[in-house]
Amino acid sequence: MKRRERALLEQAKLVLDFNWTGGYTKPGPRLYPHQWSWDSALISIGYSHYDQDRAERELLHLFDAQWRNGLLPQIVFNPSFGDYFPGPGFWHAQESPDAPPHHRTSGVVQPPAHATAVRLVYERARDRSRAHEFLERAYPHLVFWHDYLYRERDPEGEGLAYIRHPWESGMDNSPLWDAILQRLHLREDEIPSYRRVDVHTVSEQDRPTSAAYDRFAYLVRFFAERGYEEAEIREECPFLVQDVLFNSLLCRAEADLAELAPEIGEDPAPHRERARKTARAIDEKLWDEEHGTYLDYDLVSGRPIYVYCASNFLPLFAGVPDEERVRRMVNFLEHGGFGLSDHRIRPVPSYDVHGFGFSPTRYWRGPVWINIDWFLLRGLERYGYREHSARLSTTIRELCERSGFYEYFDPFTGQGHGSVLFSWSAALLVDVLLSAADEAPSPRRP
Ligand code: GLC
Repeated sequence: MKRRERALLEQAKLVLDFNWTGGYTKPGPRLYPHQWSWDSALISIGYSHYDQDRAERELLHLFDAQWRNGLLPQIVFNPSFGDYFPGPGFWHAQESPDAPPHHRTSGVVQPPAHATAVRLVYERARDRSRAHEFLERAYPHLVFWHDYLYRERDPEGEGLAYIRHPWESGMDNSPLWDAILQRLHLREDEIPSYRRVDVHTVSEQDRPTSAAYDRFAYLVRFFAERGYEEAEIREECPFLVQDVLFNSLLCRAEADLAELAPEIGEDPAPHRERARKTARAIDEKLWDEEHGTYLDYDLVSGRPIYVYCASNFLPLFAGVPDEERVRRMVNFLEHGGFGLSDHRIRPVPSYDVHGFGFSPTRYWRGPVWINIDWFLLRGLERYGYREHSARLSTTIRELCERSGFYEYFDPFTGQGHGSVLFSWSAALLVDVLLSAADEAPSPRRP
C-alpha cells in the first residue's frame, strides 16, 4: 500500500475511534449519536479487517435490542443523548408488547445488510474460536430477523418484503417517495407537533423539507396508534413499498446465511431457497424492460414507481440479473445520468442527474453516498466489470481524501455535505483499501 493510502487508512480508523462509544459506533458525532441498524452493519465491515472485538460487539449490541417478534430496530437509543427527534417519547415503541424490555428503540427497520456483515466479520476474524462463538450468538438473531421480514412484511408470500416508512429504506428523502407523500393530504390537526434538531446541526438547505417531515411524523404516529401491530398497520398504511435496495440486500443476506449455516451445523437449504425465491421475485416483478433496470413497487396504488435512482441497480450486489440484463444496466449507468462514463460526474450519484428535482447537495436527491457506491462496486466486480468497479473505488478514495469523511458528496464538485466524520464513509473506505491490499500480489523479493 502506498504512503498516501496508509495515511488515509489511519485517518479513517481515527474517525471510527472518535465515534466509538464502548458499545457501538455513532454514525456521526453530533447529528447521529444513537445506534443505527444498517450503519452498524456497514461499520462492522470496516472493523472486520482490523478489530475483531469491536466488529463483533457492534453487531451484538444491535441484536440485543431486537424485538420479541424479530424486528431489528432502525435506532437503538442511547439514554445519555436526550435531545433527539424523533426520540423514544415520540415513537411510543413500548406500546407494542414485542418491544424489548431493556432498550429504547424506534419502531421501524432498516435494510437487512446484517447477515452479509456477520459473514465478513466471521470470515476475516483472526481468533477462530472466538469467531465461532460469535457466529453461534449472531445466527439465531439473523434467522429471527429474516423470519420476521418474510412473515410480517410479505403477507402474500411473494418473496418480497415491504417497507412502510421512507426511513425504512435508509434513503429517507429520496425522490422515490415523492408521489406517495404528495398523495398524503394531511389536515392541520393530523400533523403531530414536533421539534426537529437536524436543522440546527447541518445546513437546512441539505435536509428534507418540513412538508416531508410532517409526513414522516404522521406515519410514526400512525404506527404508534396501532401499537405496532403489523396486521393492523398494513390494512390502512398509505406507504407500503417493495423497494429494490431493501430486497436486494435481503436476497444477498439470505445467500450469506446459507454460507454461514453449515459452519455451526445448521441447515443451509431454507436460506438458499428463500434467496432464490426473492431473486426470482425481484427479477420478475421489479424489472423494467423499457429502461433496463429495476423499479420499486408501490403496493397501495398497485404500480411501479418510475423514478431512477442508483439504488435501483443494487440487484447487482445480490447477483440477481443475468448477463444480458447486467449489460443493459451497465449501459444505463454509463449513458443515463449516473456518470459511469462521464468524467465531469463523480459516479455514481444517488439519483439520475437528469431526473426531475435532482439536487447535487440535497439529502438523497443526487449526492454521492459511499454506501450505495460500495454496493455497486462490489456488484460490478461480481460480474467481472473490473474497470467500472475500479472507477468507483478510485472515486471513493478521492472523495474521502480531498473532502474528508462526510456523509455525502456533491457529484460535480466533490464537496462534502451533511455530517462530518461520518462512520460508514470511513468504514467502507477501510474495506476498499484493505480488500485491494489483500488482493494485490505481494511485491517480488529481489
Ligand atoms: C440518515 C440516513 C440513514 C442512516 C442514518 C444514520 O437518516 O438516511 O440511512 O442510517 O442517517 O446515519
